[in-house]
Amino acid sequence: MVALDGPSGTGKTTVARKLAATLGAGYLDTGAMYRLVTLAVLRAGIDPQDPGAVAALASEVEVGVGTDPARPRAQLGGQEVGEEIRTEPVNAAVSAVSAVPEVREILVAGQRRIIAHVLDTVGGIVVDGRDIGTVVAPDAPLKVFLTASPEVRAARRSAQDSAAGRKSTTAAARASVERRDELDSTRTASPMRPAGDAVVFDTSDLNIEQVLVALSELASQRGLLGGEFAEACR
Ligand code: DC
Repeated sequence: MVALDGPSGTGKTTVARKLAATLGAGYLDTGAMYRLVTLAVLRAGIDPQDPGAVAALASEVEVGVGTDPARPRAQLGGQEVGEEIRTEPVNAAVSAVSAVPEVREILVAGQRRIIAHVLDTVGGIVVDGRDIGTVVAPDAPLKVFLTASPEVRAARRSAQDSAAGRKSTTAAARASVERRDELDSTRTASPMRPAGDAVVFDTSDLNIEQVLVALSELASQRGLLGGEFAEACR
């Protein structure tokens, strides 16, 4: 298993999917799970700043994510939601929702079940998040924490939004990612931070392929390639 943590705009999700495909492993986007609960909160007309109401909804809502790196899926109550979880209303509310301890408890339990199932069936998994190396899977044989400068992260996020047809400027993207990172790293419940034994890797001056090569090398050094992957994950 590879735990890949870090803030948005570091290339984490793209790299995690490609790395999973390269390793022949499954892929889990834990951010999508927090985004799904947030979408449910917004659809239900619940105030994201009301932790009691958010926790109550989180215990009822059925969140589903796919683990095939070639085909990410996100479902709420069995219905595909597609790109709706990546829109600005969800970006603006997801940090408040993911700071609620009960939400984290429910989703972390679900993440551990998915990881165990994929390790049993596929043999390996790359997990993308904020607290994977610290909380969800502290025994992961490879933990990487990706970083990048705020300018680079904002530019990447803005380019992603534009490519997906969402209106975006670099200034708005920077304000959005900085606000979210501040909230995600200062919350009381499982704040975003590198695990003590994580490899901290700055992607500011690297493209996706270069990051992928570096991470594949790390995975290889830890014996996480090919047939050895399943064994090393246990
Ligand atoms: O990776 P992302 O941008 O899709 O994540 C969306 C939000 O979910 C992020 O702002 C913080 C939260 N999150 C979290 O608290 N813990 C995780 N393991 C993954 C995401």
